[in-house]
Amino acid sequence: MSSTKAKVLGLCKRWSVAGVLPKSGGASFRTVTSSSSPSHNAGILAAEFYIPHRYVSQGELEKFDKVSSGKYTVGLGQANMAFVDDREDINSIALTAVSRLLERYNIDPKSIGRLDVGTESLVDKSKSTKTTLMQLFAPSGNRDIEGATVMNACYGGTASLLNSVAWVNSPEAHGRLAIYVACDIAVYEPGPARPTGGVGAVACLVGPDAPLALVPGARHSHSVDVYDFYKPKMSSEYPAVDGKLSQSCYVTAVDDCYAGTIHKLEKIRSSEIKSVEDAFDHVAFHSPYNKLVQQSFKRMLYNDARRMVARGHALPELLAALAPFASLPAAQTLANKDLDKLLSSIGGEAYKRMVGPSELISKNIGNSYTGALHMNLVSLLGDAHAGGAHLEGKSIGAFSYGSGAIATMMAFKGRKPSTSAHQSTSLSTIASTLNVASRLKERVEASPEEFTNALILREAFYGKIGASPAGSIDNVPKGAFYLKEVTKEGGRIYAQK
Ligand code: ACO
Repeated sequence: MSSTKAKVLGLCKRWSVAGVLPKSGGASFRTVTSSSSPSHNAGILAAEFYIPHRYVSQGELEKFDKVSSGKYTVGLGQANMAFVDDREDINSIALTAVSRLLERYNIDPKSIGRLDVGTESLVDKSKSTKTTLMQLFAPSGNRDIEGATVMNACYGGTASLLNSVAWVNSPEAHGRLAIYVACDIAVYEPGPARPTGGVGAVACLVGPDAPLALVPGARHSHSVDVYDFYKPKMSSEYPAVDGKLSQSCYVTAVDDCYAGTIHKLEKIRSSEIKSVEDAFDHVAFHSPYNKLVQQSFKRMLYNDARRMVARGHALPELLAALAPFASLPAAQTLANKDLDKLLSSIGGEAYKRMVGPSELISKNIGNSYTGALHMNLVSLLGDAHAGGAHLEGKSIGAFSYGSGAIATMMAFKGRKPSTSAHQSTSLSTIASTLNVASRLKERVEASPEEFTNALILREAFYGKIGASPAGSIDNVPKGAFYLKEVTKEGGRIYAQK
């Protein structure tokens, strides 16, 4: 037996209800449930992910689409894009992610009291992915699971995380744990947005005394009414998107959320934060495509310069060149090519160190919409150099953006769980279970023609009832769920390969 498997099997009893609520008495029960205090350290106890078996190379797609060389690989900063045909839908990929989470960490289904799902890849206007996932809990007889599917473009996963954390901190938890799922199938009609698609699902166990704990009181949100990306056509899976507007809405949300988070962190720490490096050791972003992530991190450096100048401080060497831009009215800085050019030339080392460990999966699967930020946290947790035990004592900033728009910046801290109830979970266990690099290598490269054909199959099947998908089961990885048929009444039947 591999040491990873042995470690994971060792978790079995710890994550049963009995493990969380010791039979011997009520003291621990009360400690867990009276836990709205910030010292509770609620957050991510375990993480799993699903990425499809097939991907298309962005370099090959550039040739196929006859665009200039580098447009997708450098201009968007993407390496590969994952895709599925009509054989997989949002329910099947969520089923795969949650079943892996339960299995690989040996979680007793009876220990779960809340399940939230974030997605915008709806296949039914009423029946939720959350309730479809209840088939995984049926054999245990556990029906007492709160939570529903949350929809707001790429933000549903973060809303699910925040719901889960609030619930484990509430008296409703009774010592049980929560699971949140962040998943999407991102597809665009042919055109400049198509290479910014992707697919992925993340499922995380949430509870107290977590190795990746959400820092209470540090988050800041930005929500406005805007039509930057939306899905008004009920007969099509494709969104309507104003690409340029979505970019500026995203960057405006970064500005706003970063300023608010800094202000709150300064209060919590009772000390001034001069730079993003003072605030965080790592930063993970929602990643529609990698170039926007690079630009957003640089934007945080620019915000540091603005804050320092506003407070009358001299700029450090790294930011000195930004002095001429540091006092401009904010509106004049959004589509400012000179500023963008300058920002692209600074902070490369800080970006590599602070953001680099979180970008591996998304660069190779593309945008998984509501899954994207959470996939980037999975990359960071699974990174060989920055992840695992290296994250202990580290502070992690996380920026989530969903069009329409809602954005939140949060702070996590990496830590060693302290109580006996959760001593079985650790950053190292999560890293070895995720095994990110080798899972990316298990995939197969498909041609741009195969990618295009898969999307044609999806288009033809979208909204159909009384039909079975045409896509081959050969393209579904072993152990994954897939759609068998949609009955003539519209029920969806799944099988596991
Ligand atoms: N080599 C290097 N760079 C290149 C090349 C090339 N050959 N060709 C173009 N580029 C650069 C451009 O200069 C531009 O760089 P910049 O961002 O620094 O200005 C970048 O590639 C993008 O090219 P554009 O021509 O500006 O934009 P395009 O028409 O390709 O559309 C967009 C890009 C808007 C991102 C489009 O793909 C889209 O609409 N995607 C969906 C919306 C989206 O993802 N929005 C983000 C937030 S909302 C969300 O998450 C859904």
